[in-house]
Amino acid sequence: MDLFEKCQNYSTASEAQASGLYPYFIPLTESEGTIAKFKGKKLIMCGSNNYLGLTTHPEVQEAARDAVTRFGSSCTGSRFLNGTLELHEQLENEIADWLGKDRALVFSTGMQVNLGTISSLVARKDYVILDRDDHASIVDGARLSYGDLIRYRHNDIRDLADKLSRLDEDRGKLLVVDGLYSMEGDIAPLPEIIPLCKKYGVRLMVDDAHAVGVLGGGRGTAAHFGVTDDVDLIMGTFSKSFASLGGYIAGADKVIDYIKHHARSLIFSASIPGPNAAAALAALHIMQREPDRIARVNQIAKKMREEFTRLGFDIGNSQTPVIPIIIGDDLLTLQTWKMLFENGVFVNPVLSPAVPPGRQLLRTSYMATHTEDQIDEVLTVFEKVGKSLELI
Ligand SMILES: Cc1ncc(COP(=O)(O)O)c(C=O)c1O
Repeated sequence: MDLFEKCQNYSTASEAQASGLYPYFIPLTESEGTIAKFKGKKLIMCGSNNYLGLTTHPEVQEAARDAVTRFGSSCTGSRFLNGTLELHEQLENEIADWLGKDRALVFSTGMQVNLGTISSLVARKDYVILDRDDHASIVDGARLSYGDLIRYRHNDIRDLADKLSRLDEDRGKLLVVDGLYSMEGDIAPLPEIIPLCKKYGVRLMVDDAHAVGVLGGGRGTAAHFGVTDDVDLIMGTFSKSFASLGGYIAGADKVIDYIKHHARSLIFSASIPGPNAAAALAALHIMQREPDRIARVNQIAKKMREEFTRLGFDIGNSQTPVIPIIIGDDLLTLQTWKMLFENGVFVNPVLSPAVPPGRQLLRTSYMATHTEDQIDEVLTVFEKVGKSLELI
C-alpha cells in the first residue's frame, strides 16, 4: 500500500476550486490594514486579527526596520543556544509587568507556546481538561502530553463541574480555556471557572491570543474580570493585536523557569527574529499609551453586533470584535462568502468539522482603524447579500 495513495485520491480542494467556491490561501498583493488587494480589486478586510490596526503603524514599522539593521534578518538558532537577544528579554519583562505576572517567556509562535507549555507541564498520570471549543493548538499540546485528556461542553460550567468531580484528587490537573473564543467571539466565564479550579485543585491556563489588546483595557480576559491573581498561566500571541509574529506564556517565576527548560517547541526551534520582537514591543507601547484604540475597536464591534442583529443575522453569543454570522450549512456559507468577496468584503468561512454541523459560519472581525464609511459599506453589502440569499 503506497503511503501517498491518500494524496492521489484527495480531490476536495480541487473540486471546490473548479466550482469557484474555494475560499482558502487567497494571495493578497497588498494590505494596508483595513483594505487589502486581490488581483487589483480592493476588499474591506473583515477577516484579520489586526484588532488595533497596528501592522501599518509608522512606529511599529520603524522599530522593525531599526531592528533588522541592528540584529539582521534572523537569529538562526533557538532561544536555548545562540538565539536569545536582549530584546527578547526586554519584551518578556515588559509583557510580564503589563499582565501582572512574575515572568514571561517568548516563543516563536503562539502555536508553539501551547504545544510546549501544555506538553511540558502535563506528565503521565496528570489530567489536562479542555473546553470543546478550545483552539487546535491547545488540543495538539494536550495530545503531545502524556496526561489524560478530558473535554467538557463549551462554556458549560455544570458539565465542567461534573467532569472535575470524577477525577482522582491525587493527580495533577491543568484546565486550559480560550479567554476569547476565536470563532464565535464569546468569552470564558472565568469568575465561574475559578471557584471550581480552587475546589478541585486545578491549575488554570488562559489562551488570550484574541483577548489581549481587546479586553480588560488591553490586558486580556483575566483583567477584564479582575481575576489576574487566580489565573496561573496567561498565554498570548504576537500575531494579532501585537502586529507581529511570536507568542508568550506568563506566570509564576518557578513555573516559567520549568517551562523554559522543558518545552521542546522552545528549545528545538529558532527564536523570533529581532524585527518581530521589536515590532511586538512597539505595539505594546502603543497599546499602553493609547487606550482610545482599545475603546475604539470595542465601540465598532458593539455597533456591528447591534446592526447585524437588527438586520436579522444570527451572531450567536458574540460579545467582542469577533462576530460570527451563523449560516448553518457548508454550501450556503461558501456561496455567501463568495458574494461578499465579489462585492468587496473579505471574511472567513468556517465549515464543519471546524465547527459542529449546523454552526457553519462566516467569521467577521473588526479593527480600531476601520472607518465609519468602511463599516457602513460592510453593512450595506451584508444586507444586500443576506437578502439575495434569503438569509435575512
Ligand atoms: C486561540 C489561539 N491560540 C493560539 C493561536 C496560535 O497563535 P500563532 O498564530 O501565534 O501561532 C491562535 C492563532 O490562530 C489562536 O487563535
